[in-house]
Amino acid sequence: MTDQVLCSVEGGVMTLTFNRPDKKNAITDAMYGVLADGLERAEADAAIRCVLFNSSSEAFTAGNDLMDFAAQNASGDTSRDAGERPAGERNVTRFLKGLARAEKPLVAAVRGLGVGVGTTMLLHCDLVFVAPEAKLTTPFVGLALVPEAASSWLLPQRIGHARAYAMFALGEALGGEEAVRLGLAYRCLPAGEVEGAAKAAAVALTKRPIGALKVTKRLMRDAAKMAELMDLEGRYFGERLQTAEAAEAFAAFFEKRPADFSRVA
Ligand code: COA
Repeated sequence: MTDQVLCSVEGGVMTLTFNRPDKKNAITDAMYGVLADGLERAEADAAIRCVLFNSSSEAFTAGNDLMDFAAQNASGDTSRDAGERPAGERNVTRFLKGLARAEKPLVAAVRGLGVGVGTTMLLHCDLVFVAPEAKLTTPFVGLALVPEAASSWLLPQRIGHARAYAMFALGEALGGEEAVRLGLAYRCLPAGEVEGAAKAAAVALTKRPIGALKVTKRLMRDAAKMAELMDLEGRYFGERLQTAEAAEAFAAFFEKRPADFSRVA
């Protein structure tokens, strides 16, 4: 059990807090495990009526730990999804599927960086509060990877193809105000007010009739399609993780230099 994601329950709200500030809250397998367990528990426990994602430092999360990706690249492990892994689903897959399946409301408080899954997970949250300084990016292509968390469908659906493509392919960032304007986030508030507003919204949601909330959410989202897409994205993602392009991208990050994809086929 890691303390790099904190899980607490109070007044019907489960709060999952990213707590690895020295690495900008980059998410390791163990951290995905806590997140996935939290979502599973929240769905099963009638006393929990809302889940809030938060961070203990300004960065929300820098996304998947690139050391884990590099290790997977080196080991030749292509299994990112359940079907290829008899021992059980990877924690990341359990978490992403948990987001897709969640019937209870999910709220997020994002004050700073949201990279990769730090942005794509927001597409599964029902109310996202951001600060103007929030910087949302989905740099999958720059890492020689492909979008995940059903974002290949959800992001263009939410913010339009052109902007989504620029985010995926060029690594363009979205600021807090723009995220609200484009419909990715609900409210943009001064950084010091984001957490309080998100908590207040989560508490307000606990007072609403949970049965009606669940059916409303079911009607608003296509959970089966999202899970199916996650499997497809996961297969491509697993393949891409093994490429020489990806090895170059990960090496470049840790050597603190720009990637040079002309070196690889
Ligand atoms: N995986 C592993 N370590 C990460 C990380 C990640 N995703 N993101 C940040 N870190 C580490 C850095 O290596 C650095 O570690 P060090 O102090 O031991 O050198 C530390 O966190 C601080 O990051 P740093 O890059 O110095 O901070 P910054 O403010 O200059 O930049 C980011 C922050 C997030 C823009 C930058 O770290 C980055 O691009 N990270 C990679 C994000 C990414 O590609 N995620 C995967 C998406 S699929």
